Amino acid sequence: MMKGKVAVITGGLSGIGKGTALVLAKEHLKIIILDRQDDKAPAVLQQIEKLGSTGDYQHCDLTKRAEVDRVFNDIQEKYGRVDYAFNNAGRGILSKPFGQVTADEIDGLIDLDIKAVMYCMINELALMTKQQFGRIVNTTSGTGLVAGKGMALYSACKHAVVGLTKAAALDYAQDGITINAVAPGTIATELILPYKESAPAEFKKWEASNPIGRLGKPAEIGHAVKFLFDDGSEFINGVILPVDSGCVAGTF
Ligand SMILES: NC(=O)c1ccc[n+]([C@@H]2O[C@H](COP(=O)([O-])OP(=O)(O)OC[C@H]3O[C@@H](n4cnc5c(N)ncnc54)[C@H](O)[C@@H]3O)[C@@H](O)[C@H]2O)c1
Repeated sequence: MMKGKVAVITGGLSGIGKGTALVLAKEHLKIIILDRQDDKAPAVLQQIEKLGSTGDYQHCDLTKRAEVDRVFNDIQEKYGRVDYAFNNAGRGILSKPFGQVTADEIDGLIDLDIKAVMYCMINELALMTKQQFGRIVNTTSGTGLVAGKGMALYSACKHAVVGLTKAAALDYAQDGITINAVAPGTIATELILPYKESAPAEFKKWEASNPIGRLGKPAEIGHAVKFLFDDGSEFINGVILPVDSGCVAGTF
């Protein structure tokens, strides 16, 4: 039974995180969003409440360990537990040969795509171990499973999420906790839609990258996350689930 359980979603005010929050909202949960786009929060929380869950928004720069620890402290005081966690916030850079990547880009991506996931997981695992129950889903990418030309930095970060997910899954397998990841194909979100105007050639490539012939919808990732959170998914652990209409299944 999902009803009444506490879910944390990082990057839940936009794109895949928001789409997932809205899928989960139908399950009558307590949904806590960690993000930093404060202006977007009221509308998203309203949508969550309309669908039957309670919504809460905590401003948090996920790249700052102290902020993450503080927010999870607050969550512990207010809710006493976290049952489900979707560690999803992340970003990439426009593709270019690896030698042209800047030091700032390296730091920025490692901070958000790797370290922030680790900071959140450490806090989530502390609560979940006490409860002897928890479901963690991280967001990697198709480029976390196979390489993409011009994507070395992003691909390296998303491969790190894969390794983290698999190894941590083994650490907590006897604590009632499962740790899995979703690997989205190209999804129509605020992360990539602006490139339709600013980088049309790159956008065209992304659009064509899903074998189904269209961009994915955020709710289609949400559907997979809900499945991994489900009580019946207890035996699914350390899995990286591509949700990409077959993109990483092979060349097409
Ligand atoms: N969109 C795609 O095609 C695609 C494909 C594969 C993987 N992904 C991955 O999916 C995840 C979500 O991507 P999206 O497309 O929904 O992006 P998005 O930009 O639409 O949403 C990301 C959210 O994360 C938040 N965020 C970013 N940095 C933050 C920080 N430092 N602290 C707190 N919040 C922060 C943003 O405010 C935003 O609300 C990312 O990890 C991304 O790498 C996306």
